[in-house]
Amino acid sequence: MKASILVLAGDGIGPEVTAEGTRVLRAVGAKFGHTFTLRDALLGGVAIDRTGTALPAETLALARASDAILLGAVGGPKWDDPLAKVRPEQGLLAIRRELVLYANLRPVTIHPKLVGASTLRPEVLQGVDLLVVRELIGGIYFGEKTREPDRASDLCVYTSDEVRRVVRRACELARGRRKKLTSVDKANVLESSRLWRRITDELVRKEYPDLQLEHVLVDACAMYLARRPASFDVIVTENMFGDILTDEASVLAGSMGLLPSASLGDGPRGLYEPIHGSAPDIAGRGIANPYATILSVAMLLRYSLALEKEAAAVERAVSRAIDRGVLTADIALPGTPAATTVQAGKAVVEEL
Ligand SMILES: NC(=O)c1ccc[n+]([C@@H]2O[C@H](COP(=O)([O-])OP(=O)(O)OC[C@H]3O[C@@H](n4cnc5c(N)ncnc54)[C@H](O)[C@@H]3O)[C@@H](O)[C@H]2O)c1
Repeated sequence: MKASILVLAGDGIGPEVTAEGTRVLRAVGAKFGHTFTLRDALLGGVAIDRTGTALPAETLALARASDAILLGAVGGPKWDDPLAKVRPEQGLLAIRRELVLYANLRPVTIHPKLVGASTLRPEVLQGVDLLVVRELIGGIYFGEKTREPDRASDLCVYTSDEVRRVVRRACELARGRRKKLTSVDKANVLESSRLWRRITDELVRKEYPDLQLEHVLVDACAMYLARRPASFDVIVTENMFGDILTDEASVLAGSMGLLPSASLGDGPRGLYEPIHGSAPDIAGRGIANPYATILSVAMLLRYSLALEKEAAAVERAVSRAIDRGVLTADIALPGTPAATTVQAGKAVVEEL
């Protein structure tokens, strides 16, 4: 097949990890006989520096013309002035919204070799295989904002259509898995959560009666994720709750550098990125873990290009590289030398 893929490396470790993602993409193309045309464009801090805006019009046009987008990360201390009018994260939020990518899929699984990399006890991690579906273009991150010297506000708004489309996506995914859906909200306090719960109840009752649905308050969910993570199958939740819960869930896997994500809308075009940020503390040192980005490439192959065999091959290759002990500093076992970002990427290509 032929596909055009836009690469938005971004800031900090973004260029380092996307370089390994594209190394793997090219290897998949060569092995399976596909022609992937890769193009680079600017997003985030690097785009602000060169063009004055976090999402240049050219980047957006290229994204619309692509079959899929691979993204590193954006942001960093250089652009962190709280009073700045333009911020790198605006670029990220804008491209998600412009492409109407409302469902952000964040799978969490644990490689047996990395059980020791988590701060949780091994028996708690037994059998963890969950998928968080985070609403991505609504809620408090996108609501009206005000700023005065001594008062500031962020409005959290959801419409029933916005809730329905993301919950429907989560239901479809749950049907292909263990058929359990956990909807996370704060319905005891927030009106937007009460709407979320009502719409979810109606939808599941009418269209997905085969699913087991439970509602869990977000504070309790944060606790259950650390206490009994294996009890979850698909978790669906609003934007900010999903953002926070998945950083927590990365502790189950052992590192932020292991969790991929796919941001999807109604069509096949998607945006794929690791869940981590630009990690300025380790940027430029060649030690970042590229596995989350490479696993995001697997999701790209699966969801945007419908190349399931190739996606599974990439996931197996990452698993084998980990089996072989090719582990970057964030997950290296005590007393063993850590792999560099490039060594980890090359190990995946070898395993492919
Ligand atoms: N999607 C995005 O682009 C995104 C997401 C979150 C944060 N950010 C931005 O990134 C910047 C840094 O934010 P932060 O420090 O809170 O979060 P972060 O995810 O960048 O880093 C948190 C910690 O995890 C480590 N880490 C992250 N990714 C890693 C990897 N691949 N390999 C090894 N270690 C890794 C970092 O070294 C750091 O100690 C901020 O400017 C923030 O706004 C961007």
